[in-house]
Amino acid sequence: MDNEHDGYVAPAYLVDDEFFTRTFGEIITKSSQDRALNDERFAHLVQTEPFHLQLPLTSRFVYGTGERSFDLNLYGRHLTFWNTDPSPYDRGSEPINYAVPFVVIVADDHVQGIFVDNPYHGTVDIGFTDADLLTFSFTGPARGVYTYTGDTLASVIAQFTAQSGRMPMPPLWALGHHQCRYSYMNQREVLAIARQFRRRHIPCDAIYLDIHYMDHYKVFTWDTEAFPDFAGMAAELHAQNIRLVVIVDPGVKIEPGYDGYEDGIAQDVFIKLPDGTRAEGVVWPGNTHHPDFASERVRRWWAEKLQPLLQAGVDGLWNDMNEPLYFGFGEALSPADYLVHDVDGTPAYHAEQHNLYGHQMSMASRLAQEIADPQRRPFNITRAGYAGTQSVASSWTADNTATWDSLRLSIAMTLNMALSGQSFTGPDIGGFAGDTNAELLIRWYQACVLMPFYRNHSAVDTIHQEAWRFGEQAEGLICQAIDLRYTLLPYLYSQFAACHFDGIPIVRPLFAAEPQNPHLRSIDDCYLVGDHMLVAPITTEYALRRTVYLPAGSDWYTFDAQTRYHGGQLISVEAPLNTVPIFVRAGTALPLWSQLQSTPSELPAPHLRLYPGHGETRLYQDAGDGLGYQRGEYAWTTFTLSDDTLTHTITGDQRFSHFTV
Ligand code: GLC
Repeated sequence: MDNEHDGYVAPAYLVDDEFFTRTFGEIITKSSQDRALNDERFAHLVQTEPFHLQLPLTSRFVYGTGERSFDLNLYGRHLTFWNTDPSPYDRGSEPINYAVPFVVIVADDHVQGIFVDNPYHGTVDIGFTDADLLTFSFTGPARGVYTYTGDTLASVIAQFTAQSGRMPMPPLWALGHHQCRYSYMNQREVLAIARQFRRRHIPCDAIYLDIHYMDHYKVFTWDTEAFPDFAGMAAELHAQNIRLVVIVDPGVKIEPGYDGYEDGIAQDVFIKLPDGTRAEGVVWPGNTHHPDFASERVRRWWAEKLQPLLQAGVDGLWNDMNEPLYFGFGEALSPADYLVHDVDGTPAYHAEQHNLYGHQMSMASRLAQEIADPQRRPFNITRAGYAGTQSVASSWTADNTATWDSLRLSIAMTLNMALSGQSFTGPDIGGFAGDTNAELLIRWYQACVLMPFYRNHSAVDTIHQEAWRFGEQAEGLICQAIDLRYTLLPYLYSQFAACHFDGIPIVRPLFAAEPQNPHLRSIDDCYLVGDHMLVAPITTEYALRRTVYLPAGSDWYTFDAQTRYHGGQLISVEAPLNTVPIFVRAGTALPLWSQLQSTPSELPAPHLRLYPGHGETRLYQDAGDGLGYQRGEYAWTTFTLSDDTLTHTITGDQRFSHFTV
């Protein structure tokens, strides 16, 4: 293979020799790999009581389990709980980055959730070897097993998140359009990208710095040649209402003289081998040690180390490579099971801690932001997680590819994450690995228009895919999709609040609107946002029309409120390149903002677009940032529409309720 270097093979998307050499240099030695991964002296150490749970499976419709690169319905599958990075994944790659040992079973008259709180390596057999059995198996004991029953999907997810953790309110800007690239190489390029957005009037709320901003991939640092005035750059972005998010990778480079390493040794923060020496593994910087985020002490250390970046103007942290993984021979490997963590004074093997690592790192990065500014809402995003990680970070669906199939998958994956408690997620728009193209990018922006997380990201050595890279027509169409998202933010933000306060998933599969209809339970080419909106995007190349089933129980309007359809029927709709089919339930008072370039600090009053019928719509309003919402500084305004007569009631802090009709 041509991407081989010193016996190491880079992830498949890193096919550029020159880049690979630049990344890995001469630092890597084979012996360090062997030591961490194959030390015969310790291999016998991890022995735990396995866990086994087998239940009758009466339904053929099963969801959740975290991030899965499959269709929505997981019935008939055998899935693994072990956070892993196949980068990039394809349909069927198993497991991938973020596993959650929680399943949702949808029967005709009820919904059931089963949470096996067990971070050990495990599997769930969902009618795979026996059509009528559900079997959980783990290599170690469970911390608890919980079941939840309810009439609706939302009530079961609400119960699960009440126990595992609820999503805090993110800052409003986190819902905006974000731009990322592996990597924007220097501050000139970052500011040029920002200027392009503003000059072209394409809304943008955040720009991300990927690994090249660091000094030789050393976490906590930045490259002072490429970013000679980091704080000045951040300030210039802020002046344009653009926030700065930076990647943080857990592997701390082993390099005498580097503070992250020296201080990490002095403070004794790294994961160990059973003989008490520090474990080593290879990641971007070469040989590294990994902080042991299992202990509060180390999380605090990490949080303190990140202060200089946060003081320099960083607004959000992007936690990556935290499955965790070591680069191996052509693949990503997990650190060995027998590595030893220190869980606040109690030793534990990596076998038990592996699936918790992404969660614990997210806790540490969140703490960093809370220390930097206790009055601001953190923006924290992670690749790996566990049950409850939504309480500390959002996520994205890891390294997808620039293919139509990957676009299709992103709907099922986002929905299954929402049904695993992590609503605040979404795919790399345009696709991460491989070259995208105009049509794919347009359709991807449209498909994700109301997904909780809305970020364009692409890998090194792929074609640049910012909104303007494919000519004027494509730019106009992409901009139109982004504009539409900003228009809909008051509605989307209200769904975030329903998720925060009540545990209701932000996006849901179509069947949530008509639970008694079994024919809808595998549909994953569209999604519901809250109770009132249905997004039915085009996810097929060249397609200009599609069919969509409108759930029974109410009528539905096209987004422009011009055409009304009866629910309970399959319709065919035109969807030329300038259209994303969106339907709104009759009886909705939809709060809309007018054109914005980024989320404003003073939230404007939304205007209501009425979709005549009978129904209630809830609008949530608060300051958009800060922790006032935890002290009751917010308003819920409930609009009741009866044919075309609108009334409303306000609960909470009346000062926050404002709108125009
Ligand atoms: C991983 C991340 C990807 C990032 C890359 C370089 O593959 O998933 O988003 O761009 O690393 O940091």
